[in-house]
Amino acid sequence: MSASEAVTDTLRELHGRFAGVREGQPADYIPELARAVSDDFGLALVSMDGHAYGAGAADTPFTLQSVSKPFVYALALTALGLDEVTRWVGAEPSGEAFNAISLEHGTGRPANAMVNAGAIVTTALVPDTREAPAFQSILTCLSRFAGRKLDVDEGVYGSEAATGDRNRALAYLIRSTGALPVDPVAAVDTYFRQCAVRVTALDLAVMAATLAHGGVNPVTGERVVSPEVAAQVLAVMATCGMYDSSGDWLLRVGLPAKSGVSGGLIAAGPARFGLAAYSPLLDAAGTSVRGHAALAALSERFGLHLM
Ligand code: DON
Repeated sequence: MSASEAVTDTLRELHGRFAGVREGQPADYIPELARAVSDDFGLALVSMDGHAYGAGAADTPFTLQSVSKPFVYALALTALGLDEVTRWVGAEPSGEAFNAISLEHGTGRPANAMVNAGAIVTTALVPDTREAPAFQSILTCLSRFAGRKLDVDEGVYGSEAATGDRNRALAYLIRSTGALPVDPVAAVDTYFRQCAVRVTALDLAVMAATLAHGGVNPVTGERVVSPEVAAQVLAVMATCGMYDSSGDWLLRVGLPAKSGVSGGLIAAGPARFGLAAYSPLLDAAGTSVRGHAALAALSERFGLHLM
């Protein structure tokens, strides 16, 4: 059996093994996400030579949600550099839920760019000019990571915009400490749009593979961010990407990762692969139950743990 066939076989086998898991439920605090099809389950892997492998619903569209956060962090780091970005948003695990009030004592900075509070600040740091409105730069950047032109699911965007008072409240709180450089309503609106960008598990695997490949998209060959920025983003994913389960994830799975409440999940093996899963049934930390199980099994089977 060739190496390619072995990867495809393994993804199919893991898909079969976890497709029957019924634990967890779709997020419903964004009403449109509650309409997700519970049975959908996709797995994808992209290698450093740009080969893409999928199993199950690897082509099914869903919205990025928090999986957008590391990529917009990459864009802010590219625009402003690590020192300036770190003046506004920290790089310490918060040990708290994704939507916690995360304001560092003294500075008012959110703990990191993976929790909502920090991600709203990161989004606010993306330059907004008449020639390049912030959201356009974000969509272009996400599309370069994915290697194709992405778009917004307006239904999901509208649903979150109509119900997202907690995020608006977080933005106002951050603004009150002087740690938000722009209008809170505008920052949150752009953040909601980035969360509603539509992708598939295959897209996510390409995006994760681009980080793993030092910032060069292995499918298109385009350099999206510098090797330094790719490494900085992977570091924050490793320590903060899974919120208050980041420690347990790093202990057991051993890969930088990021979850999202639509059921998307990415993990990166530096210089080796990008991995992604999609299944909308979530655990209490907002992580895809089947995605978590499949990625953990894959890591164990092939010894992917980085430590
Ligand atoms: O801001 C929110 O609440 C959502 N747009 C994204 C949260 C999210 O994906 C948390 N991750 N598991």
